[in-house]
Amino acid sequence: MVDAGGHDHRRGRHLHHQQLSAGGVKIAVLKEVAPETRVAAIPETVKKFIALGASVCVERGAGDAAKIADADYEAAGATVADRAGALKDAGVILAVAGPDPSTIPGAAKGALLVGTLDPARRADDIAAYAKAGLDPLAMEKMPRITRAQSMDILSSQSNLSGYKAVVDAASLYGRAYPMMMTAAGTVSPAKVFVMGVGVAGLQAIATAKRLGAQVSATDVRSATREQIMSLGGKPIFVENVTGIEGEGAGGYAGEMSPEYQAAQAELVSSHIAKQDIVITTALIPGRAAPRLISDAQLATMRAGSIVVDLAAEAGGNVEGCVAGENVVRHGVTIVGAVQLARSLAADSSALYARNLYNFLSAFWDKETGRPVLPDDDEIVTALRVAPRVVPRVESVPTPAS
Ligand code: NAI
Repeated sequence: MVDAGGHDHRRGRHLHHQQLSAGGVKIAVLKEVAPETRVAAIPETVKKFIALGASVCVERGAGDAAKIADADYEAAGATVADRAGALKDAGVILAVAGPDPSTIPGAAKGALLVGTLDPARRADDIAAYAKAGLDPLAMEKMPRITRAQSMDILSSQSNLSGYKAVVDAASLYGRAYPMMMTAAGTVSPAKVFVMGVGVAGLQAIATAKRLGAQVSATDVRSATREQIMSLGGKPIFVENVTGIEGEGAGGYAGEMSPEYQAAQAELVSSHIAKQDIVITTALIPGRAAPRLISDAQLATMRAGSIVVDLAAEAGGNVEGCVAGENVVRHGVTIVGAVQLARSLAADSSALYARNLYNFLSAFWDKETGRPVLPDDDEIVTALRVAPRVVPRVESVPTPAS
């Protein structure tokens, strides 16, 4: 039971309504700005939100780049409007990228703004959201706990990026992946090396295996050794210096000791000269990506080899990598991969949209038809990137007022 003042009697803690009005919450779905191709809701999630008592208004053309027509959203029960119409009195705003704060007026006070808000680099925009009375929630800050797995946008998008990195490398590589024994002779299999075996790396291994490559992989977390083998890959690990046992803090890697880095560089040097395709995915939260391949190591690779650097935007794992560009060094093409999930807009939108639905529906108050975020919940505290706006306490009208 949540009363109008936001007090939850059942759970005995203080909750705050984003918007208190008759009927369920209105959810606005924004049209993203190019080069973004994804959209934060799909017809399936629209239907599910409506089943929870919400209404959904999609900005006209929001699904165009992901091949979802306005009519598809309408068929799912949404209305379609221009941005101002979509935002008017909305209690929840769904976005992929954080919108320019000047372009989102008209939402209800305390409306949740849910998206990839990039608080580390967009502090001014986050402050502007809060000033406008919004409650910004940065989905990329989702904690790595079991309960939050289905809400994790980094996982859902990294998985697709790992797949696309291997496919993009295949199209640039002037040779085939699988071994082929033909009447005209044998084509030898491509050797693919995956560096960093998180979500993207695991999918890269699986995809390269499916395409018939010989796959090896490395990571600093010892827990990944088994995972590499279970996908049919060969683990290449630093043996003489301790890496990270188990999963590391919060599932993430940290910076390694100088001894480890030296041992890793030596290991990579001896392995990389024999590889045709390298996919690097190594990230350390809150820091520049670790340097895994030097220019000198690159020079030992065969001309025509391909390196796809999925950490390009975080500074790159490969020396000479330029985000958003293909650079050729010593005959090797370094692909500075940026947001590869965007090139699979239909699938990446579907997974992203479900992540948002899974998050909001987990905090749904059925009686009022709106999400109610407890201030002390681990997920809420991780995602909330601005001090919460003071809740609007519903005043009970008296005959005198
Ligand atoms: P990430 O994107 O932060 O990093 C990618 C990979 O690079 C990681 O495996 C990391 O150990 C590795 N790496 C970092 N520095 C390296 C170096 N110097 N050399 C080689 N490799 C290096 O990681 P991601 O993909 O986000 O996942 C990390 C872990 O978190 C995985 O075990 C994953 O299963 C877990 N996870 C758990 C979730 C949950 O429980 N809700 C959700 C998502 C992931």
